[in-house]
Amino acid sequence: MDPEVIIKLRCPGIVSCADIIAFAARDSSCKLGNINYDVPSGRRDGNVSLINEPLLNLPAPFFNATTLRDNFARKGLSLDEMVTLSGAHSIGISHCSSFASRLYPTQDPTLDPSYAAFLKTICPPPVANATAAPTVDPTVNLDSITPTRLDSKYYVGLKANRGLLTSDQVLLSSPMTAKKVVYNAKYGNVWAKKFAAAMVRMGNIEVLTGKQGEIRRNCRVVN
Ligand code: HEM
Ligand SMILES: *[C@@H]1O[C@H](CO)[C@@H](O)[C@H](O)[C@H]1NC(C)=O
Ligand SMILES: *[C@@H]1O[C@H](CO)[C@@H](O)[C@H](O)[C@H]1NC(C)=O
Ligand SMILES: *[C@@H]1O[C@H](CO)[C@@H](O)[C@H](O)[C@H]1NC(C)=O
Repeated sequence: MDPEVIIKLRCPGIVSCADIIAFAARDSSCKLGNINYDVPSGRRDGNVSLINEPLLNLPAPFFNATTLRDNFARKGLSLDEMVTLSGAHSIGISHCSSFASRLYPTQDPTLDPSYAAFLKTICPPPVANATAAPTVDPTVNLDSITPTRLDSKYYVGLKANRGLLTSDQVLLSSPMTAKKVVYNAKYGNVWAKKFAAAMVRMGNIEVLTGKQGEIRRNCRVVN
């Protein structure tokens, strides 16, 4: 999510930032995919904020199927939930810097050549002298088929070798997950149901409740 988004609180001290983000994901799923699920409320916000925690907890775009599986398993999410939730890349964008290593210096052979050629028209090659490098980092849609619809076309894109991130395309190239990709591409309604259930499960991971943590007044900083 764009870190520059400032959440203006309508109910300060009553509704936590953690709940607001979970509700926003629920409402986005409804609006962009007609995928509906209930989100329990009552989450509380962390009262500490550590810069290294995202790096330690979130998967990276260059992860392979095994490291993705292990990363999700550490949070109690199954292999099928990992593949199902990756379908969120059916919407939204990625900066070139998140997948440039698939284009330069050598082109990833698992990337459809015509799609790679298109990506190269948007993403500049890295400059040897970083000091002289322009600070621009353009963006590309994660799903090239239906970029603004939350649907199973993401998996159809993977089958066409048009997964944007390495972590997307490995779901097809790994024998561990390839069948799941093919299944989700074929049975979009089943995927949508699994997605709704997995979103509820993901939204319940390591939740602070009761007197734990705090309710932030400003979502960007601890009180
Ligand atoms: C499987 C492991 C995952 C990896 C490695 C990953 C990585 C990434 C990366 C690198 C980006 C682009 C960031 C940028 O360059 O600006 C991105 C965007 C995004 N991811 Fe993931 N992600 C993963 C799973 C998920 C899950 C589980 C969800 C939600 C259920 C999700 C939802 C999104 C959305 C909606 C965007 C687009 C954000 C925007 O448009 O600003 N991702 N992800
Ligand atoms: C996946 O990545 C990990 C960590 O970089 C590496 O140890 C492992 O050999 C890789 N597995 C495969 C199947 O490429
Ligand atoms: C890198 O580029 C900067 C700005 O153009 C320049 O001042 C610097 O001397 C360059 N460094 C090298 C090693 O070429
Ligand atoms: C943060 O919350 C925990 C309980 O979740 C509490 O024990 C701790 O004292 C709080 N720390 C700060 C800095 O407020």
